[in-house]
Amino acid sequence: MGLSSMRVRTQNGLSDMRSIWWEDAIVKAIDQRLLPERLEIVAIKTHEEMAETISDMTVRGAPSIGAAGAYGMALAWQSGIDLVDASRVLKATRPTAHDLFHAIDRMLSAGDELVEAAKDYADSIVEKCRLIGEAGNSLIEDGMKVLTHCNAGALATIDFGTALAPIRVAHRSGKKIFVFVDETRPRFQGAKLTAWEMANEDIDHAVIADNAAGYYLRREVDLVIVGADRVAMNGDFANKIGTYEKAVLAKENGVPFYVAAPVSTFDPTLRSGDGIVIEQRSPDEVLIVNGVRIAPAESDALNPAFDVTPAKYVSGYITEKGVLATDELAKMLAV
Ligand code: MRU
Repeated sequence: MGLSSMRVRTQNGLSDMRSIWWEDAIVKAIDQRLLPERLEIVAIKTHEEMAETISDMTVRGAPSIGAAGAYGMALAWQSGIDLVDASRVLKATRPTAHDLFHAIDRMLSAGDELVEAAKDYADSIVEKCRLIGEAGNSLIEDGMKVLTHCNAGALATIDFGTALAPIRVAHRSGKKIFVFVDETRPRFQGAKLTAWEMANEDIDHAVIADNAAGYYLRREVDLVIVGADRVAMNGDFANKIGTYEKAVLAKENGVPFYVAAPVSTFDPTLRSGDGIVIEQRSPDEVLIVNGVRIAPAESDALNPAFDVTPAKYVSGYITEKGVLATDELAKMLAV
């Protein structure tokens, strides 16, 4: 499976694992829909199954979706399936995360050994997230209270995380920190997944309702770190719905707001965030909670999965190349 650092409590005690990996000619992944109640591993044998796994969010989070795309291409390659056809199926799953398209395009030009290429791709993302953790740790001081939105942890990135990597490194280096975990309606990635990762690591944290973030940003939060699904070259970025309002409130209250993302999340073809396609998901995700409909039968719902935050709200970008200012992005990412 390669290097892994995410600590998971299993029936046999603590083990280190990744969220998705290649094993014996198939792909295995943690079923993120079932956490925190159950830790179950799914086996994915074809690129069509992989596409389903991405669409239904068994595997989610931009870099993990990228790895899923790369592994999906490897599954198609070993079955002798036309790679351009397979790439179309995989790309048609979720439109917003740049990593998916970046990873699949990498596989299309990877030559004639796609299993090793996909494994290398996953390893390189893990290493980038490790470096993001080191770079972001420099922003976290002992005693700080950090707010994060959605899940940009090891589950979302194969291992380490983007937004959660600096928090992991800070905690492991002995800094005392506290994490405000936005619950992240409608799918609760914060309450279910980020809180699960924090609990596994014994990192002090509390889940807060999404609409409590302003209350805490005004009085207690020292630093905000979020992940990203796609960053335009001017620094505008898409992330989980609700990120934009946290960024505005952070600026209003003088709280530094950082975006953590590997270079694979930056889209060199986009000058600004205006061109980012926002995935619209089923109204049922908003209307039905734990199997129970919470709104009148007559009510519809709107469910954009992401929003775009303008660069003017961002204090810096934590990447594998270090912490970058907005005006450094174009130069650094061209390297
Ligand atoms: O819809 P999701 O759960 O895939 O959305 C995930 C996010 O918005 C994450 O913050 C983003 O992918 C960054 S993951 C390091």
